[in-house]
Amino acid sequence: MGKTEQILPASVDHHGFQIPRHLAWRTGRLDRFREVSDEHIAHLEAFGGLGGARHVVEIGCGVGRDAIPLMRVLPDDGSYLGIDIIRGSIDWAGANIAAKDARFRFVHFDVADKQHNPGGSEGMETYEIPCVDGSQDLVFLYSVFTHMFPGDVARYLAEFQRVLRPGGCVLASMFTMDRGLISYLQAIGGGGLRALTFSHEVEEGFFHNDPEVVPGATAYSLDRLGVMVSNAGLVPERFVRGSCRKDREFDVNGQDLVVLRKPAF
Ligand SMILES: C[S@@+](CC[C@H](N)C(=O)[O-])C[C@H]1O[C@@H](n2cnc3c(N)ncnc32)[C@H](O)[C@@H]1O
Repeated sequence: MGKTEQILPASVDHHGFQIPRHLAWRTGRLDRFREVSDEHIAHLEAFGGLGGARHVVEIGCGVGRDAIPLMRVLPDDGSYLGIDIIRGSIDWAGANIAAKDARFRFVHFDVADKQHNPGGSEGMETYEIPCVDGSQDLVFLYSVFTHMFPGDVARYLAEFQRVLRPGGCVLASMFTMDRGLISYLQAIGGGGLRALTFSHEVEEGFFHNDPEVVPGATAYSLDRLGVMVSNAGLVPERFVRGSCRKDREFDVNGQDLVVLRKPAF
């Protein structure tokens, strides 16, 4: 057995849950697993109205890094639905989180995805989040729009509008870009975890870090995103500048935070 194998435990302890290391790794940032989750919950409280939310959906929940701390936050009559495209993560979260807490539910979305779910059979274009119209207070997604293409993001936005109650909120972490920021990132050798520069503007306002790597990292101009948000019937409420900017307000892997709202009337 090599030295590395000896020192790496088979699971990651997260609030007392023993998450298999290979699944925790696919959720990301094993080096800061707990801290990332603490930051996510703090942002949901500060910007997403988590304190007043009863019914919550998380897209791209992975193995439940954020669901686990939410077990202590969600009200007794609340509900949480986690959706992910990695079957193993959803199976583990169902067997270990939902099995302990009836407010929690995890559903696999079998969409074809080269990186996370090769061989998937469902299409994004017709996907429906398994929730009744107007039933949810908050939809959130961390590090999911960061690699998605415009048609798929548009489909999710339309679904968020459908499942949210009037006045409900979306919080998404993602990369937003403009030419000035790209020049700055090129000058400093790239921002974020993997030194991203988003130098390829594939379509107006839609940037790819490296079109040879699919899905890879993607970014949107605020103008392009604004049109997509408005087409979905949502309203931009807050933009929080992330860590690839000189004037950053917070630090999460170079991403920004976007807060959207479904109009109350
Ligand atoms: C970097 S991980 C982040 C996991 C989790 N949001 C967190 O921060 O703890 C991205 C997750 O998004 C999931 N994902 C990717 N594309 C997705 C899609 N179209 N719909 C739902 N989940 C998706 C991946 O399977 C993966 O678990």
